[in-house]
Amino acid sequence: MKKFLATMASTLMAVSLVGCGASTSAGTPAPAASEAPAATAEAAPAATAEAAAAATDGDLSTKKVGVCIYQFSDNFMTLFRTELENYLISLGFSKENITIADGANDQATQTNQIDTFITDGVDVLIINPVNSSSAATITDKVVAANIPLVYINREPDESEEARWKDNGWKVTYVGCDARQSGTMQGEIIADLGLDAIDFNKNGKVDYIMIEGDPENVDAQYRTEFSVKALTDKGLEVNCLSDQVGNWDQTQGQQLVANALGQFGNDVEVVFCNNDAMALGAKQAIADAGRTVGKDIYLVGVDALTEVCEDVLSGAITGTVFNDHIAQSHSSADAAVNFLTGKTNEYYIGCDYVKVTKDNAQSILDSLK
Ligand code: GAL
Repeated sequence: MKKFLATMASTLMAVSLVGCGASTSAGTPAPAASEAPAATAEAAPAATAEAAAAATDGDLSTKKVGVCIYQFSDNFMTLFRTELENYLISLGFSKENITIADGANDQATQTNQIDTFITDGVDVLIINPVNSSSAATITDKVVAANIPLVYINREPDESEEARWKDNGWKVTYVGCDARQSGTMQGEIIADLGLDAIDFNKNGKVDYIMIEGDPENVDAQYRTEFSVKALTDKGLEVNCLSDQVGNWDQTQGQQLVANALGQFGNDVEVVFCNNDAMALGAKQAIADAGRTVGKDIYLVGVDALTEVCEDVLSGAITGTVFNDHIAQSHSSADAAVNFLTGKTNEYYIGCDYVKVTKDNAQSILDSLK
């Protein structure tokens, strides 16, 4: 598959401004560790990790793994952590030596959990930070305790990742480039063609945007790049509303209900930064008497099973597969590499996959 990350130029990331037309980055954006080779996910394939595990003669069964998840109630991170635990066990770790902590979306809570893991002497930490801006503080205390660290899902910024490299620390990040997912969302809509989208015949794509947590680069980039994909194809856009739904289904439903109440039939496209919020949007659209595919379009990201089924039935226009299997395996493999004296790249990437009616069934099959 084409490696998206490798081609991107490096630049600074700016703070997200929520609101229609807000720009989420300065200049030409890029992944925080853009110099890292794109194919780094392949630097630690499962086979390598299994071989490494074997080389330790079952030693992994005695290794203690601490996992911090920003919030257990998040649908996508639930898939991620379940797969991560199962895969760690398949590599030879003991279930009782894997501890997974719920940060309950509170950085102070998560920081306490990290302190406890350090005191308990875990051998490796896998951390999905509540606030990626807290990464420097987290890294400092984990490195000081001489514990290798694998960040997942919420990418620390470029300067933080540069520190790992400059100091040769056993720290890495595993995740996908959210710009790719945003671009794919926009392409799903653009491919419909203006005639099909422009129900109110004003010559523009009138949309609402439902964002995830704006501190999160995934929310910033998906918001920006979904719209950019439309304008790159020469379509004129009109942002009716841009709201923060914090990755949450209930908030997504409420925000879309409000926007449909306010803008009515002028809403032609609903962009949601993730599928949980798209499921909420689907409900709000039905409640407003609108029909996806007939008088409105709806896209999400993640490819949750329920959403793939909705894409097949037409209840949701499309989504983007956020590969929790590849990401959880890569993070476990990276942990094993550190534990067995090997190194990792400082950025371990993964590709998204566009999901429409054409391939939703095969994505569903691959998730079984
Ligand atoms: C995104 C995912 C969202 C949410 C978020 C948490 O990658 O698409 O559904 O889980 O991570 O940071």
